[in-house]
Amino acid sequence: MHNPETLISEEEIRLRVDELAARISLDYADKGELVLIGILKGSFIFLADLARRLTIPRHIEFISVASYEHGSIRSGAVRLVMDVRRSIEGRHVLVVEDIVDTGHTLHYLIDMLKTRGAASVRTCTLLHKEHKTEVDVKIDYLGFSIGDEWVVGYGLDYDEKDRTLPYIGVVQPTDY
Ligand code: IMP
Repeated sequence: MHNPETLISEEEIRLRVDELAARISLDYADKGELVLIGILKGSFIFLADLARRLTIPRHIEFISVASYEHGSIRSGAVRLVMDVRRSIEGRHVLVVEDIVDTGHTLHYLIDMLKTRGAASVRTCTLLHKEHKTEVDVKIDYLGFSIGDEWVVGYGLDYDEKDRTLPYIGVVQPTDY
């Protein structure tokens, strides 16, 4: 057993999620029901905590995407593997992501949701590796900027491990 080194504690996450939920609730106060779209699997814990703290009407959807890989190299191309259940046409949408790394995933989804006629599409991510950006995406609500390290916990995994760790920890592949 190993314990990943703490990068962001449970308490820090809780306080930041409170702040984000308060800001989102204020920004969407007069806009009717907000559609929160969580990107599986990594966002499920963040989305659960965020959604329960909002004070506005909300509807939960999930989407799942996969990156095309050539060997261990990610090409940047993304494909949809599970779609939302209801039309988002004319709806205000907030895409909820665990972490933005190169930006390809979010870029693909924003384009797709706009094409479908959403009234607005904004993004909320708990973490952002800002130095690894390959394609610029607008992050409207950000939890924390982090370095280039691999992080696990609070929904994030390394090869499906440590997803349910209550805090965000840093790991090396050699830890497993
Ligand atoms: P992007 O398309 O490169 O921005 O990739 C975003 C996706 O990469 C996230 O949704 C995660 O699934 C995964 N990812 C990137 N960095 C990490 C990390 O440090 N820990 C866990 N997952 C990560």
